[in-house]
Amino acid sequence: MARLNVNGVVREFDAEPDTPLLWVIREQIGLTGTKYGCGIAQCGACTVHIDGAAVRACSVPLSSVEPGQKIVTIEGLAPGADHPVQKAWAELDVPQCGFCQPGMIMASAALLAQNPRPSEDQIRAEITNICRCGTYNRVLAGIKLAAERGQSG
Ligand code: FES
Ligand code: FES
Repeated sequence: MARLNVNGVVREFDAEPDTPLLWVIREQIGLTGTKYGCGIAQCGACTVHIDGAAVRACSVPLSSVEPGQKIVTIEGLAPGADHPVQKAWAELDVPQCGFCQPGMIMASAALLAQNPRPSEDQIRAEITNICRCGTYNRVLAGIKLAAERGQSG
């Protein structure tokens, strides 16, 4: 029996130690907002937070997550989905098909938590998630808007 703290709730489940965290989150725990894109840590669709840091869950084996670490998925980012990034995303209609967007939002939220006023160069360097719909300009605008709002509370 394995145990993880996901979105503030301790969950127990059966899984092999080498199971990627992405599949534990989706299959064992049943939170399907975190997406599978490439499976090789390239696209960022599977991004979640571990102790506040953005990680690509497809490439994190269950055995490497310590029981005390806090995992947050898109479902647990903010009550009522009202994180500044989510509000900016809604205001600017950032998503197109939406598939990559949970990962985009999680990566962006982690960036702003670490660096509340990133420069455009820093955003481009840090947010390397892939979007097949090409929403990159709106993602950039969304992060800038969320950063401005974060400053004004
Ligand atoms: S599915 Fe994890 S980075 Fe693409
Ligand atoms: S919105 Fe469609 S893949 Fe990004």
